[in-house]
Amino acid sequence: MPTPTTPAFQDFLRRLPKAELHLHIEGSLEPEQLFALARRNGVPLAHASVEALRAAYAFTDLQSFLDIYYAGASVLRTEQDFEELAMAYFARAAADGIVRAELFFDPQTHTARGVPMGAVIEGLSRACRRARALHGISADLILCFLRHLSEAEALQTLDDALPWREHFIGVGLDSSERGHPPEKFARVFARAGELGLHRVAHAGEEGPPAYIESALDVLRAERIDHGVRCTESPALVQRLAATGTPLTVCPLSNVKLCVFPDLASHNLPALLSAGLKVNLNSDDPAYFGGYLLENWRACFDALPLGVTDAVTLARNSLEASFAPVDERAAWLAQLEREAATAP
Ligand code: HPA
Ligand code: ZN
Repeated sequence: MPTPTTPAFQDFLRRLPKAELHLHIEGSLEPEQLFALARRNGVPLAHASVEALRAAYAFTDLQSFLDIYYAGASVLRTEQDFEELAMAYFARAAADGIVRAELFFDPQTHTARGVPMGAVIEGLSRACRRARALHGISADLILCFLRHLSEAEALQTLDDALPWREHFIGVGLDSSERGHPPEKFARVFARAGELGLHRVAHAGEEGPPAYIESALDVLRAERIDHGVRCTESPALVQRLAATGTPLTVCPLSNVKLCVFPDLASHNLPALLSAGLKVNLNSDDPAYFGGYLLENWRACFDALPLGVTDAVTLARNSLEASFAPVDERAAWLAQLEREAATAP
């Protein structure tokens, strides 16, 4: 049985320089900020209070979460809203020892409501620049396509975002996984590749191992978001280990969305023992009960993990990031210095 982490060990986890690579910025919208923005923008809400909204965060699967998540995002209207949202996240990220953040955003959720693409991207992009000045955090944006919509709509979204091409570094694929395999988005990912954009995709969260394979083979994804169901295919685990493909694992999300019954049953230790390049992330922290450090602390409390695993997880996150090599090298050196101070 693992023993609960001591305050000294928790402080060690906090000090380790970490990259967060799987964070939907709309999923960092806390109920208090959600209500404040609804009031400011005159958006009606289905819940009467912050408490009533929080009480609705009892999910049975991915779709039950997405329905509430998209409704929550409807309060975001202006460039200032997006900037404030991301600034609130960066303050928490800094407190958790995050040195690098790659933020997912879902433009289609917003443009469908008439929010201009420029308001979304310029607000978030300004926050990324301010995060460096204010917190020393290196941050970039990854534009995600909603997989429950068509590929034609994804292609249109990519085109609509091109005037802001220098404001995002890659594309991703999120939303309802079951019934929407990666290969549905072959052309838009090929186009993103031609534009020099990085490519990542959610796969193997609720979907089968075959979705992880097609994300790699058809979309040429450089990282797999979630990917936890890979352990159902030993051949796929071998492939992921041999290629060093990073998996951006989100433990509290997996429990909240019933991918695992509890944290003690999570396959993180199995993924690590298989030599996979796993790192930890918070996914949608306002909805799933914790930001990045809380995910770390909960895992180290519930699972048989130690100092070596902590350093490996932090190293994997830095190595899997799309940050420039010199930045990554500086963080990796900082990581080795912190690792030497393990309690
Ligand atoms: N999975 C798929 N789509 C999402 C998620 C997720 O965990 N969070 C926000 N959009
Ligand atoms: Zn996600």
